[in-house]
Amino acid sequence: MKVVLSAKENGSLKVFVDEEKKFSLCRCGKSKKPPYCDESHKGTFIAPAFEITVAQG
Ligand code: FES
Repeated sequence: MKVVLSAKENGSLKVFVDEEKKFSLCRCGKSKKPPYCDESHKGTFIAPAFEITVAQG
């Protein structure tokens, strides 16, 4: 199983398991459905982009 955390500079933290997106976590603090992203960040949020593989086997 491969688990990847991925974030673009203007969006949520996406969690992928075996290349399939499972859910998106809010990292802007504006979601009305925390901890999940509800798209409230659009046009209001900028943070560093990154991608991390946290488990692989
Ligand atoms: S990152 Fe999408 S609502 Fe916060």
